[in-house]
Amino acid sequence: MKKLFVKTYGCQMNAYDSAKMADLLAPLGYGAADAPDGADMVILNTCHIREKAAEKVYSELGRLKRLKEEKALGGGRMLVAVAGCVAQAEGEEIVARQPAVDLVVGPQSYHRLPEMIARAAREHGHVLETDFPALEKFDSLPAPSASGVSAFLTVQEGCDKFCTFCVVPYTRGSEQSRPPAAILHEAQKLAEKGAREIVLLGQNVNAYACPDQDGKRWSLARLCEAIAGIEAIVRIRYTTSHPRDMADDLIAAHRDNPKLMAYLHLPVQSGSDKVLEAMNRQHTSDDYRRLVEKIRGARADIALTSDFIVGFPGESDADFEATLKLVRDIGYATAFSFKYSRRPGTPASTMRKQVPEDVKAARLACLQKLLLDQQYGFDDSQIGRTVPVLFEKTARKPGQLMGRTPYLQPVHVAGDAGLIGQLCDVAITRRTANSLHGTLAEKRVLA
Ligand code: SAH
Ligand code: SF4
Ligand code: F3S
Repeated sequence: MKKLFVKTYGCQMNAYDSAKMADLLAPLGYGAADAPDGADMVILNTCHIREKAAEKVYSELGRLKRLKEEKALGGGRMLVAVAGCVAQAEGEEIVARQPAVDLVVGPQSYHRLPEMIARAAREHGHVLETDFPALEKFDSLPAPSASGVSAFLTVQEGCDKFCTFCVVPYTRGSEQSRPPAAILHEAQKLAEKGAREIVLLGQNVNAYACPDQDGKRWSLARLCEAIAGIEAIVRIRYTTSHPRDMADDLIAAHRDNPKLMAYLHLPVQSGSDKVLEAMNRQHTSDDYRRLVEKIRGARADIALTSDFIVGFPGESDADFEATLKLVRDIGYATAFSFKYSRRPGTPASTMRKQVPEDVKAARLACLQKLLLDQQYGFDDSQIGRTVPVLFEKTARKPGQLMGRTPYLQPVHVAGDAGLIGQLCDVAITRRTANSLHGTLAEKRVLA
């Protein structure tokens, strides 16, 4: 058995792609290793979203170069591959900066890995593939070989929104949706491998739109309804959504589809209309407030989460205050926040009035404090309640299981490993920094 080590950076779509790459290489005799030392092949599945994410790759490649040399001394060969969004964005530059790299493969081209490996073995030079249309890869990817209790399923790729700060439209290409039949087939396979929850993925997943064999257009809501028809699947989630694509049927599905969780990641980025416009987000802060009101009208208990960028070019103190106000008005269950990072090739990177680093840092600290307070408030509101928890795995502490509430909060409960994959009622008793804790109420396995 040859050893394959895959390291994943970035978003859930990369996590999905990493699993697919491992499945693709299994028939070539590669089995998963949990460290790069001595591996026959190492794949870095990279992220280009912020400068830090991209730079991490080069320092990791420096370490891999030494491991590769060690392996060569023993007469072996370690193939080093860079996949994902840095591969797509930087291509040949990667090999120029780090000649130890053998393969560079973009997020739409990794189905070609088996033949790329064969070529690299023959030619001993580096092999680069970054030019494939989105979705073509799905025709040659294998069915999932395994599944956790919660499984990712990519249904949509790419983005046409062109937010002025963001690299995704350049690294993942234009918006495209997979056909419903292929998605349902994969969901069924995941269920057969033990999945109880499906998380539908796309850079703009709520823009999902695809005709079926009869030419009828499917929306994301329709797709969720069809997946809800798979008996073993008890929970459905989707991420990430753009406020502009939050269609009425999807909002209604949060009321009408009992398997669709009361949880929505709906990034707003900023609360200032001036900044939202400069970001090309195509909505105002009031549009977002109205949308949230409508969603809560359909599903009062929905847990909302978001992404925020502080220090976008031209962001003033007043603009930042508007973001804090929006956060206070909405009330988030949790959220991610980032300092604006200049990305080469994006319109915002050349905008005047870039915000100094220390101002960004101060704003980020302030926003994160507010968001954390809201998160703790939301988590504390569960204490004393009994909520359905889907158990995913054993926890680090012996005798403990880790599961999640409908609102995606992690919960730790004393219980038998046989409960993994089951949905049980849990009485929530307390909260620690990163988790809720509770006791098993009565066992309840949903149909
Ligand atoms: N498609 C998703 C997420 C894209 S990337 C969406 O539209 O919401 C995830 C998050 O990274 C974004 O929501 C944004 O908050 C952040 N991000 C993207 N580009 C960034 C940049 N140049 N600097 C800082 N954060 C960025
Ligand atoms: Fe990037 Fe905007 Fe597209 Fe999200 S919607 S992926 S932030 S360009
Ligand atoms: Fe990063 Fe690419 Fe995902 S840039 S966030 S890995 S789409």
